[in-house]
Amino acid sequence: MIKHTRFLAMFFFAIAAFAACKDKDETVTPTSTNLYDRLGGIDAISLVVDKFLANVVADDVINARFAPTVADPFRTRLLRNNLIDQICAGTGGPCQYKGKTMLEAHAGMKITDVEFNALVGDLVAALDFYNVPKTEQDDLLAVLGPMQPDIVGQ
Ligand code: HEM
Repeated sequence: MIKHTRFLAMFFFAIAAFAACKDKDETVTPTSTNLYDRLGGIDAISLVVDKFLANVVADDVINARFAPTVADPFRTRLLRNNLIDQICAGTGGPCQYKGKTMLEAHAGMKITDVEFNALVGDLVAALDFYNVPKTEQDDLLAVLGPMQPDIVGQ
Protein backbone atom coordinates (compact mmCIF):
# COMPACT_ATOMS: atom_id res chain seq x y z
CA MET A 1 0.00 0.00 0.00
CA ILE A 2 2.79 2.40 0.93
CA LYS A 3 4.51 1.55 -2.35
CA HIS A 4 1.26 2.21 -4.20
CA THR A 5 0.82 5.63 -2.55
CA ARG A 6 4.40 6.54 -3.31
CA PHE A 7 3.92 5.57 -6.95
CA LEU A 8 0.76 7.71 -7.16
CA ALA A 9 2.56 10.67 -5.57
CA MET A 10 5.39 10.36 -8.09
CA PHE A 11 2.89 10.07 -10.91
CA PHE A 12 1.09 13.28 -9.92
CA PHE A 13 4.40 15.05 -9.37
CA ALA A 14 5.44 14.10 -12.90
CA ILE A 15 2.14 15.40 -14.32
CA ALA A 16 2.48 18.66 -12.36
CA ALA A 17 6.08 19.09 -13.53
CA PHE A 18 5.06 18.48 -17.13
CA ALA A 19 2.20 20.98 -16.85
CA ALA A 20 4.57 23.57 -15.38
CA CYS A 21 6.98 23.07 -18.28
CA LYS A 22 4.19 23.37 -20.79
CA ASP A 23 3.04 26.64 -19.18
CA LYS A 24 6.59 27.94 -19.39
CA ASP A 25 6.85 26.99 -23.07
CA GLU A 26 3.66 28.86 -23.82
CA THR A 27 4.85 32.04 -22.16
CA VAL A 28 8.20 31.89 -23.96
CA THR A 29 6.56 31.62 -27.38
CA PRO A 30 7.19 35.04 -29.01
CA THR A 31 3.93 36.93 -29.30
CA SER A 32 5.22 40.51 -29.50
CA THR A 33 5.92 42.01 -32.91
CA ASN A 34 9.22 43.80 -33.46
CA LEU A 35 9.42 47.53 -34.15
CA TYR A 36 10.18 46.95 -37.84
CA ASP A 37 6.83 45.16 -38.29
CA ARG A 38 4.98 47.62 -36.06
CA LEU A 39 6.24 50.48 -38.25
CA GLY A 40 4.83 48.69 -41.30
CA GLY A 41 7.97 47.12 -42.77
CA ILE A 42 10.22 48.33 -45.57
CA ASP A 43 7.54 50.14 -47.62
CA ALA A 44 6.37 52.26 -44.67
CA ILE A 45 9.97 52.99 -43.61
CA SER A 46 10.85 54.07 -47.18
CA LEU A 47 7.87 56.45 -47.29
CA VAL A 48 8.85 57.97 -43.94
CA VAL A 49 12.49 58.40 -45.04
CA ASP A 50 11.43 60.13 -48.29
CA LYS A 51 9.20 62.54 -46.36
CA PHE A 52 11.95 63.02 -43.75
CA LEU A 53 14.50 63.97 -46.44
CA ALA A 54 12.00 66.36 -48.05
CA ASN A 55 11.52 67.98 -44.61
CA VAL A 56 15.30 68.24 -44.12
CA VAL A 57 15.73 69.92 -47.52
CA ALA A 58 13.01 72.45 -46.55
CA ASP A 59 14.50 73.05 -43.08
CA ASP A 60 16.54 76.27 -43.04
CA VAL A 61 18.28 75.28 -39.79
CA ILE A 62 20.12 72.35 -41.43
CA ASN A 63 19.51 72.25 -45.19
CA ALA A 64 22.81 73.98 -46.04
CA ARG A 65 24.56 70.90 -44.60
CA PHE A 66 22.91 68.77 -47.27
CA ALA A 67 23.41 71.11 -50.27
CA PRO A 68 26.22 68.99 -51.83
CA THR A 69 24.13 65.85 -51.30
CA VAL A 70 21.03 67.32 -52.91
CA ALA A 71 23.10 68.57 -55.87
CA ASP A 72 24.23 65.01 -56.63
CA PRO A 73 21.47 62.45 -57.41
CA PHE A 74 23.82 59.53 -56.69
CA ARG A 75 24.68 60.91 -53.23
CA THR A 76 21.02 61.62 -52.50
CA ARG A 77 20.09 58.06 -53.44
CA LEU A 78 22.93 56.62 -51.37
CA LEU A 79 21.93 58.63 -48.30
CA ARG A 80 18.28 57.59 -48.75
CA ASN A 81 19.18 53.91 -49.08
CA ASN A 82 21.59 54.05 -46.15
CA LEU A 83 18.92 55.67 -43.94
CA ILE A 84 16.33 53.05 -44.95
CA ASP A 85 18.78 50.20 -44.25
CA GLN A 86 19.86 51.79 -40.97
CA ILE A 87 16.29 52.14 -39.67
CA CYS A 88 15.30 48.71 -41.02
CA ALA A 89 18.27 46.98 -39.39
CA GLY A 90 18.03 49.02 -36.16
CA THR A 91 14.38 48.12 -35.64
CA GLY A 92 14.87 44.37 -36.17
CA GLY A 93 14.14 44.17 -39.89
CA PRO A 94 15.86 41.96 -42.49
CA CYS A 95 18.28 44.62 -43.80
CA GLN A 96 21.99 45.15 -43.42
CA TYR A 97 23.34 48.67 -42.94
CA LYS A 98 26.38 48.98 -45.21
CA GLY A 99 27.17 52.67 -44.69
CA LYS A 100 29.78 54.38 -42.56
CA THR A 101 29.62 54.37 -38.78
CA MET A 102 27.91 57.48 -37.36
CA LEU A 103 31.29 58.66 -36.08
CA GLU A 104 32.91 58.30 -39.55
CA ALA A 105 29.92 59.81 -41.41
CA HIS A 106 29.80 62.98 -39.30
CA ALA A 107 33.48 63.45 -38.49
CA GLY A 108 34.69 67.03 -38.93
CA MET A 109 31.16 68.45 -39.32
CA LYS A 110 30.95 69.92 -35.80
CA ILE A 111 27.19 69.36 -35.76
CA THR A 112 25.44 71.15 -32.87
CA ASP A 113 22.66 69.95 -30.55
CA VAL A 114 20.37 72.55 -32.17
CA GLU A 115 21.01 70.96 -35.57
CA PHE A 116 20.56 67.46 -34.19
CA ASN A 117 17.21 68.44 -32.63
CA ALA A 118 16.13 70.11 -35.88
CA LEU A 119 16.80 66.87 -37.77
CA VAL A 120 14.90 64.83 -35.16
CA GLY A 121 12.02 67.32 -35.51
CA ASP A 122 12.02 66.71 -39.28
CA LEU A 123 11.84 62.97 -38.65
CA VAL A 124 8.98 63.35 -36.14
CA ALA A 125 7.11 65.54 -38.64
CA ALA A 126 7.49 62.75 -41.24
CA LEU A 127 6.23 60.15 -38.74
CA ASP A 128 3.27 62.42 -37.87
CA PHE A 129 2.54 62.92 -41.57
CA TYR A 130 2.03 59.16 -41.93
CA ASN A 131 0.15 58.89 -38.61
CA VAL A 132 2.75 56.63 -37.01
CA PRO A 133 1.52 56.11 -33.41
CA LYS A 134 3.36 57.77 -30.51
CA THR A 135 4.58 54.43 -29.10
CA GLU A 136 6.31 53.48 -32.36
CA GLN A 137 7.71 57.03 -32.71
CA ASP A 138 9.18 56.87 -29.21
CA ASP A 139 10.58 53.39 -29.85
CA LEU A 140 12.27 54.58 -33.06
CA LEU A 141 13.71 57.65 -31.35
CA ALA A 142 15.04 55.33 -28.63
CA VAL A 143 16.97 53.47 -31.37
CA LEU A 144 18.40 56.67 -32.91
CA GLY A 145 18.89 58.75 -29.72
CA PRO A 146 21.97 56.85 -28.49
CA MET A 147 23.75 57.81 -31.76
CA GLN A 148 23.78 61.49 -30.71
CA PRO A 149 27.23 61.44 -29.03
CA ASP A 150 28.77 60.01 -32.23
CA ILE A 151 27.10 62.68 -34.39
CA VAL A 152 27.17 65.93 -32.37
CA GLY A 153 30.43 67.83 -31.87
CA GLN A 154 32.60 65.49 -33.98
C1 HEM B 1 19.93 60.45 -35.48
C2 HEM B 1 20.48 61.36 -36.30
C3 HEM B 1 21.21 61.01 -37.56
C4 HEM B 1 21.29 59.84 -38.23
C5 HEM B 1 20.63 58.50 -37.90
C6 HEM B 1 22.13 60.07 -39.40
C7 HEM B 1 22.44 59.10 -40.33
C8 HEM B 1 23.29 59.31 -41.40
C9 HEM B 1 23.66 58.29 -42.35
C10 HEM B 1 23.17 56.84 -42.35
C11 HEM B 1 24.51 58.85 -43.24
C12 HEM B 1 25.18 58.18 -44.45
C13 HEM B 1 26.48 57.53 -44.07
C14 HEM B 1 27.25 57.04 -45.27
O1 HEM B 1 27.38 57.78 -46.26
O2 HEM B 1 27.76 55.90 -45.27
C15 HEM B 1 24.64 60.24 -42.85
C16 HEM B 1 25.41 61.17 -43.55
C17 HEM B 1 25.32 62.52 -43.34
N1 HEM B 1 24.70 63.15 -42.30
FE1 HEM B 1 23.69 62.25 -40.80
N2 HEM B 1 22.53 61.37 -39.40
C18 HEM B 1 22.00 61.99 -38.30
C19 HEM B 1 22.15 63.30 -37.94
C20 HEM B 1 22.69 64.27 -38.75
C21 HEM B 1 22.63 65.69 -38.50
C22 HEM B 1 22.01 66.34 -37.26
C23 HEM B 1 23.23 66.31 -39.56
C24 HEM B 1 23.45 67.78 -39.83
C25 HEM B 1 22.61 68.70 -39.47
C26 HEM B 1 23.67 65.27 -40.46
C27 HEM B 1 24.34 65.49 -41.65
C28 HEM B 1 24.81 64.50 -42.47
C29 HEM B 1 25.53 64.77 -43.71
C30 HEM B 1 25.87 66.13 -44.29
C31 HEM B 1 25.85 63.51 -44.25
C32 HEM B 1 26.62 63.25 -45.55
C33 HEM B 1 25.65 63.01 -46.67
C34 HEM B 1 26.38 62.64 -47.97
O3 HEM B 1 27.25 61.77 -47.93
O4 HEM B 1 26.08 63.22 -48.99
N3 HEM B 1 23.33 64.06 -39.95
N4 HEM B 1 23.92 60.48 -41.73
